[in-house]
Amino acid sequence: MDTLVSLSKRRGFVFQSSEIYGGTGSCWDYGPLGVELKNNIKRVWWRDFVQGRPDMVGIDASILMHPTVWKASGHLDHFTDPMVDCRECKLRFRADHVDELPWTHYCPATKGNKFTIPAREPCGHCGARRTLCPDCGKGELTAPRQFNLMFKTFMGPVEEDASVTYLRPETAQAMFVNFDNVLQSMRLKLPFGIAQAGRSFRNEITPGNFIFRTREFEQMEIEYFVNPHDTIEGRPADEYWHDRWIEDCLAWFRRYGLREENLRLREHGKDELSHYSKRTVDIDYRFPIGWSELMGIANRTDFDLKQHSKFSGKSLTYFDEERKEHVVPYVVEPAAGVDRALLAFLADAYVEEEVRGEKRVVLRLHPELAPIKVAVLPLLKKREEIVKTAHGIRADLAKYWRVVYDDTAAIGRLYRRQDEVGTPYCVTVDVQTVGDQAKGEVGDGKVTIRDRDSMEQIRVPLTALGSVFRELLSGGAWASVAGRFERKGEG
Ligand code: GAP
Repeated sequence: MDTLVSLSKRRGFVFQSSEIYGGTGSCWDYGPLGVELKNNIKRVWWRDFVQGRPDMVGIDASILMHPTVWKASGHLDHFTDPMVDCRECKLRFRADHVDELPWTHYCPATKGNKFTIPAREPCGHCGARRTLCPDCGKGELTAPRQFNLMFKTFMGPVEEDASVTYLRPETAQAMFVNFDNVLQSMRLKLPFGIAQAGRSFRNEITPGNFIFRTREFEQMEIEYFVNPHDTIEGRPADEYWHDRWIEDCLAWFRRYGLREENLRLREHGKDELSHYSKRTVDIDYRFPIGWSELMGIANRTDFDLKQHSKFSGKSLTYFDEERKEHVVPYVVEPAAGVDRALLAFLADAYVEEEVRGEKRVVLRLHPELAPIKVAVLPLLKKREEIVKTAHGIRADLAKYWRVVYDDTAAIGRLYRRQDEVGTPYCVTVDVQTVGDQAKGEVGDGKVTIRDRDSMEQIRVPLTALGSVFRELLSGGAWASVAGRFERKGEG
């Protein structure tokens, strides 16, 4: 994790929020490369799950919603975590997270020497287990108390009770309260889904582990409505679609690069199911902090639509033409976190390897996710023709993709810089490309393309660059493209 945090800061992916004021422990800012990576994750998710499917539509709702939404959804009553406080240092912990922390111990068997002992382990000297505050090692912890995770705020100029509202803790509720608007305006037939990507806020008691758990984050959520009276392949439609969405989400993460061995499904036990859920399955990822939830896929039944109908007094049903009856649809909810997905993609892509006796750090990001698609590098920055051609290539390719120009170091160094941020392809312009007027030599009009992963290079005519990158950046394999051009060793 430390390696990723340091790379993220050094190369402009993620910075600590308000760092010059000492930072906030729970908020992070995405830098120039981080925002590209994050936008790419949201873009491919939207393309694959919304634009590409006839049964999906999207919305973009307000963060501030009517306060009754949170009463109806159960968040005011149930969206709580148990917290405990240290009576000595006053630090606050999530009761169910205390045992996951390394703990401070003043060991009586070693004249009170201070030790930091790994989570869940006893002291190697006296055999004691943690009972006091894991941080200061001195204070007793209070009994657990429930703490609501929603951020309260005030709507309007006067801070009075009537105007209390909340920052949304999930994007999901906007899909339920807009169910009828979307159904009527788009004339949809069940099953169909409504998607939304946007910010959510939770006053987490113990945020941490970089962007894994923060107080402000982004979610990509889908509410997929099905007719509970339908059966598919002999099974209730909601159960069938729940399994389909689990498979589709897992396949999506694999498709964009997460390795099989780092992914697993985890079924929620009866005791941990949310108040609305019939069944929930998490997709867990092996993060640097260990196996943890990447996203959840819940079968929320008709709980939400019924609740909003009850609290608003508006009917939220669907008219089943065949059966001539109004039904309250069931909903399957694939809910992913953008920041967690980004952390997983970064962690999975990060590789350190030895190349020709030197360490190479490379982010093997999927080309569709990579923040920069192509870097254009002039081999000699003092040759006007080379520089002009390189700038021209950048400008042409930048009409379609994020492309950068860099001439601030020698070519080997420039390649390593691009490897470290996951740029899948570099284009170099050299004397051969433009020729040498002084010597009466004419250029061949070709440039070198270097592939990040294999480090292989090919010579490609300038006129073919657009079509080559269209192929490579939309899933075309390097080997099949490279096979059509002249090879040029490794770079
Ligand atoms: N509407 C259902 C829902 O919000 P959730 O499991 O609480 O379900 C869905 O959240 C996803 O949102 C999680 O799997 C995780 O990826 C992300 N997420 C939740 N809390 C987060 C936090 N504090 N920081 C970062 N991501 C978070």
